[in-house]
Amino acid sequence: MGERRRIAIAGSTGSIGTQAIDVVQSSDSFEVVAIGASSSTERLAEQAAALRPKVVALADGSKAAELADRLPPGSELRAGRGAIASLAELAEVEVVLNAVVGFAGLDVTVSTLERGKRLALANKESLIAGAPVVQRARQTPGAEILPVDSEHCAIHQCLSASRAAGSELSRIVLTASGGPFRGRKTEDLRQVTVAEALDHPTWSMGPKITVDSSTLMNKGLEVLEAKELFGASTDQIEVVVHPQSIVHSMVEFCDGATIAQLSEPDMRLPIGYCLGYPDRLQLPYGSIDWSRLSFLQFETPDYETFACLKLAFEAGRLGGAAPAWLNAANEVAVAGFLEGRLGWCQIAEVVGETMARFEASELGRIGDVLEADLLARQRAREVIASLGQAA
Ligand SMILES: NC(=O)c1ccc[n+]([C@@H]2O[C@H](COP(=O)([O-])OP(=O)(O)OC[C@H]3O[C@@H](n4cnc5c(N)ncnc54)[C@H](OP(=O)(O)O)[C@@H]3O)[C@@H](O)[C@H]2O)c1
Repeated sequence: MGERRRIAIAGSTGSIGTQAIDVVQSSDSFEVVAIGASSSTERLAEQAAALRPKVVALADGSKAAELADRLPPGSELRAGRGAIASLAELAEVEVVLNAVVGFAGLDVTVSTLERGKRLALANKESLIAGAPVVQRARQTPGAEILPVDSEHCAIHQCLSASRAAGSELSRIVLTASGGPFRGRKTEDLRQVTVAEALDHPTWSMGPKITVDSSTLMNKGLEVLEAKELFGASTDQIEVVVHPQSIVHSMVEFCDGATIAQLSEPDMRLPIGYCLGYPDRLQLPYGSIDWSRLSFLQFETPDYETFACLKLAFEAGRLGGAAPAWLNAANEVAVAGFLEGRLGWCQIAEVVGETMARFEASELGRIGDVLEADLLARQRAREVIASLGQAA
């Protein structure tokens, strides 16, 4: 790589954001010119002191004064609605890493692509919920999506390595660790606590995605993400449980050959891949010690206990606004679980009941996506209220 690639990190204070900063600080290939988060002012101030970015963005405008005094000279503060998405507008920024969690990341995704820049996408929710709008923005000359999700990054690597034409792809096999409740049945899972759901066996991540991993909704969202990223149909995507999280995903071609990407679980590898592509990072993350790895295990998922995965496949087959509804219902249900208002089993129940009330709509503009998301959230809250009455 010649000159240092200039990047903006939206969601810099989270699990992906902080790992991205680690990658950048360990390499001389990148320069962080902008960072942003929701409300973690202390962490943003520390990051600004270390990175000296040109702009620091804070979504929660009410905390702007708290951060303003703590920024180093030369760092401009942007706060409030639209502040994070505005990072993509900076002329210096070549790549935006969207590491915001949830639907809130939609404007960062759209704004980056509309400016014809590379989007290193961790925020799968924006692509899933806003698919038609995001796909249109992706057509902007210069715009491209490099997937940070380890599974999709693996698929990107498998496809790039094979140089096969799209028509030669026959199947995408997404691997899933199975989460902390692998092998358990619904009756054993009624009393699980938030702490148990947050205890992931192979990955250390933010709370929302960790809960999604425990319900396998994360894998369901990844099915929808793969469909959008690689132009596959829902039925070309298969999920396989692989508890060691070494094989990050696989692609099968029309001649029967399967190509897989393997490494120890370490998100810094896919983050570095997306920032540096087509060059590979000169620093190994997740390299495998073959003297310690004796076998790789694969299982079929349990679609009855982990009903969220089945619901995601159904939303994928329905298409249109269904993935946006699934995502919104899930965000409402997961927040309810994390706040102690819902049991773990009720997450799938709320999503399923919300999807039973699905109202199809066109998603032509970003406003349509926001409306569908809002309506689905309202329906999900009604479902939760009815569960409270039934209890
Ligand atoms: N963690 C992983 O290993 C992993 C792997 C694959 C994909 N992903 C995906 O990456 C994304 C981030 O996950 P994470 O685990 O890093 O989440 P996280 O640790 O919870 O961090 C979320 C980040 O988003 C910011 N944020 C939250 N709400 C926001 C809003 N309304 N506007 C702007 N910024 C907001 C947070 O800022 P504050 O700190 O100020 O709240 C924080 O910087 C998710 O979409 C997830 O599915 C994560």
